[in-house]
This record gives sequence, structure tokens and C-alpha cells, in this order.
Amino acid sequence: MVKVYTIASGKGGTGKTTVSVNLGTMLAELGKVTYLMDADIGMANVGLLLGLQDAPVTLHEVLAGKGNIADAIYEGPAGLKVIPSGISLQGFQEADPDRIREVLTELVKRCEFLLIDAPAGISKDGVVPLAVADEVILVVNPELSSIVDALKTKILTEVVGGHIKGAIINRVDPDKTEVITRKMEKVLGVRVLGIIPEDPNIRRSSSSKIPIVIRYPASPAAKAIRRIASDMIGVAYKEEETVVVKEGFIDRFTKALFKKKQKS
Ligand SMILES: Nc1ncnc2c1ncn2[C@@H]1O[C@H](COP(=O)(O)OP(=O)(O)O)[C@@H](O)[C@H]1O
Ligand SMILES: [Mg+2]
Repeated sequence: MVKVYTIASGKGGTGKTTVSVNLGTMLAELGKVTYLMDADIGMANVGLLLGLQDAPVTLHEVLAGKGNIADAIYEGPAGLKVIPSGISLQGFQEADPDRIREVLTELVKRCEFLLIDAPAGISKDGVVPLAVADEVILVVNPELSSIVDALKTKILTEVVGGHIKGAIINRVDPDKTEVITRKMEKVLGVRVLGIIPEDPNIRRSSSSKIPIVIRYPASPAAKAIRRIASDMIGVAYKEEETVVVKEGFIDRFTKALFKKKQKS
């Protein structure tokens, strides 16, 4: 059965796009047919993060009735399929968020998972993605303004008939993960699906336009995302396999020599 998840937050800059791109890539890497649609039609970032900023047909054209959804699907990392949005203001003005429902009907025929990167705020383009998803995942930072806006988004989702799956707490101080999980579950009243630590590798990976789960798979944030994706598809969390370089003759020889030298 297809699962449609909207990644939302209320507040901007909490990490929705980072989570969408990396969770999508991870689900694809774990063998699931996964699509990622950038429904943040005003501040489109998915294309920028994946080097698809020059895509000729985007969700803008599709939502303006000027393009076909089949032409707006691009190849992303690990086989992830990506529907970017355009970056022009005119494209944003011409796009009709209500058409997202039609686009969804087409996309769900093709995949197992569809992730929708939602815009911040509570205007129409932000509300439609909350209503059309099977479940909404909130991305929250452990700070008051983000928590308040996430609570507002939770209420709004319920008002428009949507469902909350839970929250991903992003940019957490690595020493405080357990305390934060308990606190956030209490304050938000939703399940905490995972904790992503503050990790400088996220910025590094976005400038290289390669998701952190591929660029730095052993980094703390990548491991956290792998764990969340594994939970979502119900498989046991497995660390990325590390390449073990077999000790060759030369290595053994150098080691033996080194030991001898130390003794003498
Ligand atoms: N766990 C993290 N550690 C460090 N930086 C992060 C983390 N998550 C997101 N960021 C940074 O925060 C900024 C906002 O993230 P982004 O995913 O664009 O948020 P949103 O889509 O919610 O506006 C980006 O510069 C991103 O690199
Ligand atoms: Mg974003």
C-alpha cells in the first residue's frame, strides 16, 4: 500500500527540506520505490539541494496547467524520484495548490512512498499538503517558537481532516537526546519518531549537493535518519556496512618491523 507523508513544521528553517531529501534517499536506498515532491512552491529548495535547479519542467508548470507531471519527475540519489518546484516568483503566482490533489492521484500509482516537503506557514499552499497526506510528520527544533508553531500545525492538520504520525526533533544537542525525547513527547502530545543531532556535516553535504546519508553515512545525523527510515518500513536498524580492508603481506611486514624496532 502506498504511503503519503507530508513533512511539515509551521516555522521555517527547522529542517523540513533536509529531512525530506535525506529520508527519501534513505527509503530509496533501503529498496522502496520512493518519490519526493517539493510542495514548498514559494521557497523551493529540494531542487537546489539535489542539483536540479535547472529542471525545465517543475511542479510550478504542472500546478499552472502548463506541464505534465510525467515530465516533472527527475532521477535523484539512490533511485529516489524527485519532483522539484521552480524558483521563479511568477511560477509561484501561477501555480494553483489545489491541483496538488490531481498530481497525487497520478503519483501514488507509481510508488510505495511519497514524501511531500511542505512550506512553512498556514496559507493555502501550506494547508493542502497537510490535508492530502495519509500522515503528517512534524519537524521540530527544541526551542519555544518551533514548538509553538508545531503545535499550531498539529491542530490545523486535525481541523482539515489530516493525521499526525509523529515528530522528528531536529538539531538536538547530542548530549541531551534522551531528556529531549521525553520532554517533547509530553509538550507536543505526539510520538517522537526520532532525534537528529546538530551536525556540521549537514551543511557540508548540502554544499556538495549530495544528501548526508550518502555523502557522510557514518555521521551522527545520517545514522539518525537511517534509524527513522528503518522504523518507517519496519526493518531492523543496520549500520552502513563498513569496508574492511584485509591486512595484506606488506601491512603485516611493516607491523612486524615496527614491533621489532619498538623492542630494540
Ligand atoms: N541537524 C542539523 N544540523 C545542522 N544543520 C542543520 C540540521 N538540520 C538542518 N540544518 C540546516 O538548517 C538550515 C535549514 O534547513 P532546511 O532543511 O532548509 O529547513 P526548512 O526546509 O524547514 O526551511 C539549513 O541551512 C540546513 O543545512
Ligand atoms: Mg524547506
